Amino acid sequence: MVFLGIDVSTTATKALLIDAAGTVVGSAATTYGFDAPRPLWSEQSPELWWDATVQSVRRVLDETGTSGDAVAAVGLTGQMHGLVLLDADGAALRPAILWNDQRTARECDLIRERVGRERLIRITGNDALTGFTAPKILWVRKHEPEVFRRARVILLPKDTVRFRLTGAHATDKAGAAGTLLFDLSRRDWSHEVLEALEIDAALLPPTHEGPEITGAISQAAAAKTGLRAGTPVVGGGGDQAAQAIGVGAIRPGIVALTLGTSGVVFASTDSPCIEPEGRLHAFCHAVPDRWHLMGVMLSAAGSLRWYRDTVAPEIEFGPLVEAAADVPAGAEQLLFLPYLTGERTPHPDPEARGAFVGLTVRHGRAHLTRAVLEGVAFGLRDSFELLREVGATRIAEVRISGGGARSPLWRQILADVLEAPLHSVDTTEGAAFGAALLAGVGAHAWPSVEEACSAAVHRGETTEPGEASAQYAAPYARYRKLYPALKDSFFRA
Ligand code: XUL
Repeated sequence: MVFLGIDVSTTATKALLIDAAGTVVGSAATTYGFDAPRPLWSEQSPELWWDATVQSVRRVLDETGTSGDAVAAVGLTGQMHGLVLLDADGAALRPAILWNDQRTARECDLIRERVGRERLIRITGNDALTGFTAPKILWVRKHEPEVFRRARVILLPKDTVRFRLTGAHATDKAGAAGTLLFDLSRRDWSHEVLEALEIDAALLPPTHEGPEITGAISQAAAAKTGLRAGTPVVGGGGDQAAQAIGVGAIRPGIVALTLGTSGVVFASTDSPCIEPEGRLHAFCHAVPDRWHLMGVMLSAAGSLRWYRDTVAPEIEFGPLVEAAADVPAGAEQLLFLPYLTGERTPHPDPEARGAFVGLTVRHGRAHLTRAVLEGVAFGLRDSFELLREVGATRIAEVRISGGGARSPLWRQILADVLEAPLHSVDTTEGAAFGAALLAGVGAHAWPSVEEACSAAVHRGETTEPGEASAQYAAPYARYRKLYPALKDSFFRA
């Protein structure tokens, strides 16, 4: 008996099989691109996701010699916040508008006006951000009224794959909470927000908890994928919630820190908790009756990649980063602001920009490298400070994963700056692993998500904060002043 997790991400769809002990049996990914037809726009055809799902599922079954009959359940995860509009025949009416699309600044203002900013944050847990789904719906209604008129169903990206697999319209509560149309406390669509925005509730699918069964593989999907018709498909979760399950961040006290292109700080709560200014996102967890707060830094390891590609393309990441170990903590007063692609937490500002501040002739490449590693750590500390301010959860343990977490120097800088021990969790499989665990819970292989995580998630090495911790207080205080000081100097279209 095995469980299948499918992750419909922005760059690839991955299919991952785990066995009944929670061990990864194999995975296959099919990559695709996305379109930027205009500045600020980001779109993708839902057909890409379906074709990639079919290929990845077939490949993982073939390559691991697994029969479709052995797959006891399927869990879905994927990119959050995207908008897919289907017509009465289930066909997509236009390309999906993705989470990183920035065209909806006006619609965000309109939402704050109609619902009231404070009320919006109180109900949904979040302020209106350009990436979320609700402003995209208003954008299509205004700019493409003919398309909107024909829309019968609104789905998130991974739920389009669910529809193709099962014929069911459904979503999970973690994903739904990322639409800005969801009542965080009630864990269901908010009639107040829907009415204020004049969006017909009938366009939205029913919502389910992560391990709950939402439908079964259809005959047609079985013929395409090699899965067995009738195999249950569980709710799953948005990629961040599924990723958190994959590292065992499922109860208050365990904070997940993911150092990928973006940097994510994820803290579970056992009641709905809100940062009153909406600077942290507040969503439902994919664990039943749990919620979470989340800080998102848009360019974390992405900053280091940009820096290396631009300044030192001839050097591998390893030696480039190692050389920064010889520079003292604080990079001799050099600071780096990591807002290379705008920012979400703690400054929700798509037009925020990056900077090196404090350059002198004494600074060499190793200083620049160290400043980048430290700047990202300071930006992540901002999210930790917000978590501490909200007081929703104590931070007993930080679990770190993602490509950037492989660097021992970066881990040490993070432990020092965050003043917390970091436990590495070795999951290269990310959200797909969490989705597969949810499938296992749905199939009763484990009685709860907690038990699935205890069985399948293993902590690795620990990095303790060291003596350098104290040396970061002053540079961090200076770092905090940069955004307010520089924000009026950023070019704004
Ligand atoms: C979460 C978020 C991203 C996307 C893309 O809020 O925007 O994680 O889901 O992966």
